[in-house]
Amino acid sequence: MKDLLQNFQLDGDILSIESYGNGHINKTFLVKTTKDAYIFQFVNFHVFPNVDMLMNNIYLVTKHLSDKGCRTLDIVKTKDGGLYLNCGEDFFRGYKFIDNSICYEKLPDLEMVKEAARGFGQFHKDLADIDVANVGDVIPDFHNTKKRFETFEKIVAENPRHRLAMCRQDVQFLESRKADYSMIVDALEKGEIRQSITHNDPKINNVAFDKDTGKVSCVLDLDTVMTGTFLYDFGDGLRSLFTGDNEDALDPSKLVADLDIYEAYLDGYYSMMRGTMNEKEIELLPYSILIIAEELALRFLGDFINGDVYFRADYPMHNLVRARTQIALANDILEKLPKMKEITAKIVAKYN
Ligand SMILES: Nc1ncnc2c1ncn2[C@@H]1O[C@H](COP(=O)(O)OP(=O)(O)O)[C@@H](O)[C@H]1O
Ligand SMILES: [Mg+2]
Repeated sequence: MKDLLQNFQLDGDILSIESYGNGHINKTFLVKTTKDAYIFQFVNFHVFPNVDMLMNNIYLVTKHLSDKGCRTLDIVKTKDGGLYLNCGEDFFRGYKFIDNSICYEKLPDLEMVKEAARGFGQFHKDLADIDVANVGDVIPDFHNTKKRFETFEKIVAENPRHRLAMCRQDVQFLESRKADYSMIVDALEKGEIRQSITHNDPKINNVAFDKDTGKVSCVLDLDTVMTGTFLYDFGDGLRSLFTGDNEDALDPSKLVADLDIYEAYLDGYYSMMRGTMNEKEIELLPYSILIIAEELALRFLGDFINGDVYFRADYPMHNLVRARTQIALANDILEKLPKMKEITAKIVAKYN
């Protein structure tokens, strides 16, 4: 790695290289020099084939943010000005280490949930005026729930592994929710909600907090930034908080949409995004969580019926279990939608 690092514009001489963080996708290292600290990562080409587009998106987004004086990732360029280095199965790239920062797998209390949501709200707000035309789709149709449903229906019709008999009720549930899948996609197409930048992996461990103040430093892990609507991040951020470690839970009764978490997250998020959101976007906030849970259920169940070709299954029913987790959450959200709408109105009134 030391040899690879010689190709980058580092300040000072390398003192140490150590494995770092708890990421699930990239191999991440902390590199210390006599003058500075850096994060370097190997990112697998199989996960992201279009590296030029991916790195260019990160470059555009971070430049937009830093030009405004906002804290964000700071790419370390190679000595010949490149954004990354090619090395076999992976590409290799670096960022300056976000000073005094720490990331958490779980947030200890609602105040931290609110703070993390402020971080995403700030991120979306600061990016609201970027020219989205230059940002490419690293994973085309990632959140296109209409297309996701079409794909799902094709797999169900083909039933290639004869697994349909094991999951008819689950399939019926997802088919019964068809109207949900066009809610956001159609609103985007009609221009009722704005095309904006979406992070697409808004998990808690992608938020860097300042170790001393407990405030958000910035949002990390920008590999999946694309255009879409910020509703995708709002929905997925909450969805992942609701599921927590229970994504693979065998007992779906554990999957609840906690209304206190909803309120705290919305409060933090909206405190930043008020003035940047229109009525339609506000109306869709609670639905966005439902739609993202259903989208994941479509993907897991589709993959189960298809014979586990996309998501690695550790045991034969794994993807069915994952699908049922999301379906359980979707059902709980459906029950709580009226309450979520009440909370939304309350928070909007609080800040307007
Ligand atoms: N620039 C940075 N400064 C400080 N810590 C970082 C930085 N980039 C990443 N990290 C740490 O490394 C972890 C993994 O990085 P991340 O980009 O999220 O990779 P993955 O896609 O594998 O999740 C993060 O959760 C965070 O703890
Ligand atoms: Mg990450």
